[in-house]
Amino acid sequence: MGYKVVVAGATGNVGREMLNILAEREFPVDEIAVLASRRSLGTEVSFGDKTLKTQDLATFDFTGWDMALFAIGSDATKEYAPKAAAAGCVVIDNSSLYRYDPDVPLVVPEVNADAVLGYSKKNIIANPNCSTAQMVVALKPLHDRAKIKRVVVSTYQSVSGSGKEGMDELWDQTKSVYNPVTEVPPKKYPKQIAFNVIPHIDVFMEDGSTKDEWKMVAETKKIVDPSIKVTATCVRVPVFVGHAEAINIETEDFLDEDEARDILREAPGIMVVDKREDGGYVTPVECVGDFATFISRIRQDSTIENGLNFWCVSDNLRKGAALNAVQIAEVLGQKVLKKG
Ligand SMILES: NC(=O)c1ccc[n+]([C@@H]2O[C@H](COP(=O)([O-])OP(=O)(O)OC[C@H]3O[C@@H](n4cnc5c(N)ncnc54)[C@H](OP(=O)(O)O)[C@@H]3O)[C@@H](O)[C@H]2O)c1
Repeated sequence: MGYKVVVAGATGNVGREMLNILAEREFPVDEIAVLASRRSLGTEVSFGDKTLKTQDLATFDFTGWDMALFAIGSDATKEYAPKAAAAGCVVIDNSSLYRYDPDVPLVVPEVNADAVLGYSKKNIIANPNCSTAQMVVALKPLHDRAKIKRVVVSTYQSVSGSGKEGMDELWDQTKSVYNPVTEVPPKKYPKQIAFNVIPHIDVFMEDGSTKDEWKMVAETKKIVDPSIKVTATCVRVPVFVGHAEAINIETEDFLDEDEARDILREAPGIMVVDKREDGGYVTPVECVGDFATFISRIRQDSTIENGLNFWCVSDNLRKGAALNAVQIAEVLGQKVLKKG
């Protein structure tokens, strides 16, 4: 016996990837419903070798469904997640709405799988921000060995992190640079994204940081350890899929770069590709469609006593969203619902 699974936002970047990953990982699905807004009613999406038709989330009855993987943005989540949860269906949510709610676990299974057990207060489990998910997978094993005191991270985030509209804007602007007959002014982003980089993701906070930077700080504390200090600069780059991060850590105990490399090689969810030669590292285009978080350029930071630098790359639609949500579903199945 398997699970009755709902995917809400099935026509979106993350929703489609959730369907791919449920099929790829042979998640025990007995029945599946794919939902989107009314405007997509009847749109066909693929699930393994099947084609499914989307239904309207607004009129869907969640009664009798085991779990719902949501990827529909915070506004729609606010309306529909409580309805699903009240009907007894456990919601695994990709939006930021519930991430900081003390009654909702925020889970990256390689780091804090047991936190899933706290789902029952609201029947909701939150998935972190895409840039946080890949970073904490790398931080956790290093923290367990040498206790991380401080993290300095700069991100290079792809446009798929802001949904279908972000990808369309990069595509259309890139074409318009070559063919200036059609001008494509910035709409989704505050400045031109084609052939440019933008140091601004999400809204500005009072202290001058942006909300995406704040999310990396708050979420790392909730998932890994509240004592870790994090400072982040989040940058949007003209890459379609795959987020990259330059990460610097300061640890309490000394950690040699070779030992760090060995620890990361053994850690779940991580693939180390670190050769000190041309191309001996991973870039975003190479991580697309992969499950792993790739770590390269591991080296000592000689400007502080106990410091390391490394480069971290992952498919943001996978580890940053859909894969992590499916991994949470797997843990929920194994530890709580116990079907399949
Ligand atoms: N992309 C990432 O890397 C990433 C990472 C982590 C978290 N997330 C989060 O995941 C969520 C989805 O992101 P995405 O990149 O997949 O966005 P997207 O490509 O723009 O897709 C949005 C999906 O939500 C559906 N939707 C929007 N409003 C709806 C409503 N009122 N009722 C029903 N369905 C509605 C859309 O349906 P229609 O097609 O019918 O409009 C579509 O299926 C967001 O909360 C985002 O913050 C994304």
